Amino acid sequence: MTFMTQELLQIHSELQVQHDAPGAVIRVENLHKIYDLGEVQIHALRGVSLTIHPGEFVAIMGASGSGKSTFMNIIGCLDRPTRGAYWLEGQDVSKLSKIELAHIRNRKIGFVFQSFNLLARTSALENVELPLIYATQPHEERLKRAQEALRIVGLEGREDHYPSQLSGGQQQRVAIARALVNNPTILLADEPTGNLDSRKSIEIMEIFQRLNREKGLTIMLVTHEPDIARFARRTVVFSDGKVRRDAPVEGMADAAQVLAGLPLVVENQSEEVGA
Ligand SMILES: Nc1ncnc2c1ncn2[C@@H]1O[C@H](COP(=O)(O)OP(=O)(O)OP(=O)(O)O)[C@@H](O)[C@H]1O
Ligand SMILES: [Mg+2]
Repeated sequence: MTFMTQELLQIHSELQVQHDAPGAVIRVENLHKIYDLGEVQIHALRGVSLTIHPGEFVAIMGASGSGKSTFMNIIGCLDRPTRGAYWLEGQDVSKLSKIELAHIRNRKIGFVFQSFNLLARTSALENVELPLIYATQPHEERLKRAQEALRIVGLEGREDHYPSQLSGGQQQRVAIARALVNNPTILLADEPTGNLDSRKSIEIMEIFQRLNREKGLTIMLVTHEPDIARFARRTVVFSDGKVRRDAPVEGMADAAQVLAGLPLVVENQSEEVGA
């Protein structure tokens, strides 16, 4: 190939980046992920193409092993695709180094996991402040933003509690506050309600819906449960590493309304350990 053609191809691909799904938060094109275990190769993603616009709330569903977490980890810049393209707010991030990915992740991604992943010997407030320490914010600013994030998830007054002094639902809310504190472009959650009972799960969905509606936060969450997916605006179903279905949620449920219809429960003693 001549130098001239290479240069033209380069310009062409740059133009494509600018014109491809303008304004999209996430755009992936023909994404593949192959885990190389030496003797075997596992083809976990087999050509996923998807666009997510600002303010969307997407539930990712599909059987165990269908590639949901693999997909979320790539979107969250925790891992890289084997091939295919990924633009995060128009920037091609599919070929960045691990250090560059970590930098982008810290600025643009809020991640919530099924198992909370809080630091055990660290207070709720300090757990939430953590991403800001990496972002070298001044201490007062960190404190203010961490307190505000805890307030948004309904944990005002719990700032000094350690994870062991909080219920599962409260720990997950600390994890959400931590994911929010850097003002991410997108909030990603991999089975955030997987370890919670149904009421606490709906409480988490109420927070997500509020953030999505009031702050326009773009959210993508993985869930196995159709009852949880109905709180999202759009469902994408994976099977065998491919997108099998992608459709708006008909009759999206309102978590605040569902909660209001549930019998009142008084938080029990075990929730108040150390209070
Ligand atoms: N780090 C890894 N190394 C090797 N194979 C992996 C790795 N992570 C996932 N896999 C494999 O890739 C495929 C997709 O896994 P993935 O974790 O993305 O599925 P999932 O849809 O999230 O499943 P679940 O609902 O059980 O969480 C599976 O066959 C899995 O065994
Ligand atoms: Mg998974």
